Amino acid sequence: MKIQVIVGSTRPGRATLGVARWVAAQVRLQAPEAQVELVDLAEYPMPFFNEPVSPQFNPSRQCEPVVQAWLDKVAQADGYIVVTPEYNRSFPAVLKNALDFLDFQFSEKPVVLVGHGSTGGSHAVLHLRSALAGVQAISMPAATFILGMGGKLFAQDGTPKADVEGIASSLGRNVQSLLRFAAALKPAT
Ligand SMILES: Cc1cc2nc3c(=O)[nH]c(=O)nc-3n(C[C@H](O)[C@H](O)[C@H](O)COP(=O)(O)O)c2cc1C
Repeated sequence: MKIQVIVGSTRPGRATLGVARWVAAQVRLQAPEAQVELVDLAEYPMPFFNEPVSPQFNPSRQCEPVVQAWLDKVAQADGYIVVTPEYNRSFPAVLKNALDFLDFQFSEKPVVLVGHGSTGGSHAVLHLRSALAGVQAISMPAATFILGMGGKLFAQDGTPKADVEGIASSLGRNVQSLLRFAAALKPAT
């Protein structure tokens, strides 16, 4: 089973990288048989979406190399955990842009959402769920909300700086759902 943990922000010094590294480590602990990979949007500096035809309606699309690299990378996974901060009551534009480039790479695959921000990332998760429906992904009904600033809870290398037992417990339940859905849906994708 291939699970990708997507880092949903790209700015220098971002908290999301530390949160995502911790999330990936938790999944590796919980599911040692899974192949877990961190996918960092900062490594895919794509332009603003600029294609003349909507990707899902363009079977002969030609993408520039950085976009194609993003598409090829995410196509490999059976399920995803998207770690998103909240920016102005939604999820970051860079993450929306990356989703807009998808055609069917996420189609009928499960996604767990992990939100963080000063109010726990609830608006980010809500909006991200809507966008994921557009690319035909299946977002798990439960999400993990990290109250308080992610940067205060996790170092950049993913080491917790505080008691994160409650977050680990929520994430653990959601990872179990993700693995069940990914196993059930794999034959269809
Ligand atoms: C432009 C901007 C807008 C923000 N808006 C919100 C918000 O609406 N709600 C919230 O809870 N936190 C908000 N925050 C706080 C961020 O969620 C928090 O700083 C988080 O660590 C940002 O993730 P990053 O460090 O990976 O960029 C905002 C931060 C930034 C930079």
